[in-house]
Formats: sequence, structure tokens, C-alpha cells
Amino acid sequence: MITDGSGNGAGPTPLLDVRELSVFLPAPDGREVQILDEVTFSVDRGTTLGLIGESGSGKSMTALAILRLLPAGARVEGQVLLDGVDLLSQPLTAMKSVRGRRISIVFQEPMTALDPVFTIGYQISQTLRAHREFSRRAAREAGIEMLTAVGIPDPSRRYDEYPHQLSGGMRQRAMIAMALICQPELLIADEPTTAVDITIQAQLLALLRDLNLTRETAILFVSHDIGVIAEMCRDVVVMYAGQVVESCSTDDLLERPRHPYSSGLMWAVPRIGSHADELFAIPGRVPLPGSLPDGCSFHPRCGHVQPSCIEHPQSLDPVVGQLHHRVRCHRSSQLDLPGVLDEHPVSLIGGDHVRSSS
Ligand SMILES: Nc1ncnc2c1ncn2[C@@H]1O[C@H](COP(=O)(O)OP(=O)(O)OP(=O)(O)O)[C@@H](O)[C@H]1O
Ligand SMILES: [Mg+2]
Repeated sequence: MITDGSGNGAGPTPLLDVRELSVFLPAPDGREVQILDEVTFSVDRGTTLGLIGESGSGKSMTALAILRLLPAGARVEGQVLLDGVDLLSQPLTAMKSVRGRRISIVFQEPMTALDPVFTIGYQISQTLRAHREFSRRAAREAGIEMLTAVGIPDPSRRYDEYPHQLSGGMRQRAMIAMALICQPELLIADEPTTAVDITIQAQLLALLRDLNLTRETAILFVSHDIGVIAEMCRDVVVMYAGQVVESCSTDDLLERPRHPYSSGLMWAVPRIGSHADELFAIPGRVPLPGSLPDGCSFHPRCGHVQPSCIEHPQSLDPVVGQLHHRVRCHRSSQLDLPGVLDEHPVSLIGGDHVRSSS
């Protein structure tokens, strides 16, 4: 669900409600650099939300801030409400009962999260036993069951193996098993498939989609790939230079994006049957934190720039008549930007889209 951040929306409390989350990190010269600027979105129970943007836009920082895993010295403002309780105002020790149990995270590279000196089974059972009262034997049974659920063949043998004995795709499945063993309400998947090849990627996405549907695990899916988000997510949040620039349902984004950056991101995806010279590239790069341009941060790269874009920053406002579609662009009401609904980005897992079945 896309909220206005006011907390005044009707309906049930979202599972995760991120409100005006700002993150500042210390720079070497002693000053602070702002990495996130009032990031606002929410995730309903059992739903899927995609967080998309180019490298350096602040996706991982958002994920880490939710779990309070930011680098030392980080200063955070705003709220991260889990079921209405602000995680940022709890003592840090309270996060022990949140991480792994209520919110789990899967990173891009499983070797950074799996410990090479312990077996897969030991690591999975430790996660389980840290949060729930399980005997060693019951934890083993539950662990093997979980390895089976994530599609690891010969799970009782793999349970006793070390991470280096598994292939990359298998390790990523083991990571997902570890993340899901305590049945968290929310899984944060931070680019979980970019380090594996395309067939494994399709299998892992299908697995996550299946887990979302059968276990009703909500997923915050971080990716720079709009094709993956289109397959996986009901709603989407587009980030640029530490800010949310657009948030809406994935269908709305594909059909009628309201921010030139969102439209550009979608048109930069190669499509089967298109030629290289038809590909669109957004000129320039994401600006570094601490050296953002005045006005709209995207204006130096935008083909629709006008003086007001250079002079004034823009807030994230609802599109007229669409409360759940919000955009941060001075010109959005004047622009008719192309979507890609008829020219859908390459399908990775086939079948019905999660977004259209919800
Ligand atoms: N430890 C750190 N200290 C200072 N700046 C950092 C640190 N980690 C990340 N940054 C900066 O914060 C900004 C956001 O980084 P983040 O990792 O969230 O990007 P991202 O959207 O996840 O990108 P990617 O797609 O490459 O993973 C970047 O400009 C990055 O250089
Ligand atoms: Mg990242």
C-alpha cells in the first residue's frame, strides 16, 4: 500500500510503515552527509512491494535502516513502524526479537551472510533456536523441511554441508531458508538474484513468489530491474538520490508513469525483438550524496526540465484523483510519459503476474 505518511488513511494498520525516514552518515571531513531524505512507504500484510532505482539511489540503505543495521555513526530521523510500533524508538536490544523472527533479510551475495566455518544446518538451526524453543532434533527436522521447501535436492545431506560445498544458486536458497525458518511476517530481499545466472534467477523468483502466496510472507523486494519488479510486486516505490520520486501500484507505473525518471528506467530495459539502437539510456549518473543539485535532484538528467525544476525542490504529492499514486515532479501534470504495458519488459518467470492477481 502506498500511504501519504500522515497515518490518517483508512483501513488496517500496515505491517510496515516507513515514515519520513532520513539517514545521515558521518563524512571523513567530520560533516554529515544525507543519504536518505524523508523516505515514505508502507507494506501491507502478505503483499509485495518493489523498491527500484539505479545504483546508489539508497535502496540498500533503506533496507538496512529498517533493521537498524546501518554503519556506525549513522543518524536517523523519522519512523519505522512495525505493526504500529516504532522500531527506531525501541532500545537496540529489542531488535533481537525483530530480526530473523518478524523481519528477515536476504542479501545479494549469500557468502557475506553465511558463515563459512559452520554447516548450513547448524546456521539454520541456530537461527531457529535463538528465537523459538526447539530441541536440537526438532530444529534439524524443521531445517530439513525448510531446505526441502526452498527446493534444495537431497536436503538431509545438504543440511550437514558447509556453504562452499553448495553452488551459488543453492547457497542463495539456503539463505532464503535461513531467512524464512522463523516464519517472519516480512522478508526483505535485497537484490537476491543478481549474483546468479538467469535460469537460477527465474527459479528463485518463482520460489519467492510461491512463498508469498502460500505462506503469506510480505516481501519488500529491492532491485534495479523493472522486469523483476513487474513480475514480483503488487506495488512499487521508485527511488532516486535518496528520495522516493514515485510510488504507486506496479500496474499504474507500467501503464502511466508520472516521473520522467520512472519512465526512463522502464525504457532502458532491453526487450526481446528490439534492436540495440532502440534502447534508451538516461544520460548522466545518480549524483553522490552531499553534492545534490539544487531544485529537483533529477533535473540535470531530465529531458523535460524547466526553470522551476532548477529553482525549487518538489515534494512527493498525490496525482490528482489518485490518492495512492504519488510523484515528486514539478511537471508531472503536464507530461504524458510513455509506459511499457504493451511492451512488457522480458518475462522472467512466466505465468500470471502476482501484481495482477492481488
Ligand atoms: N558505509 C557508507 N558510508 C558512506 N556512504 C555510503 C555507505 N554505504 C553506502 N553509501 C552511499 O549511500 C548511497 C546509497 O547507497 P545504497 O547502497 O543504499 O545504494 P543502492 O540503491 O542499494 O545501490 P545498488 O543498486 O548499487 O546496491 C550511495 O551514494 C552510497 O555511495
Ligand atoms: Mg544496494
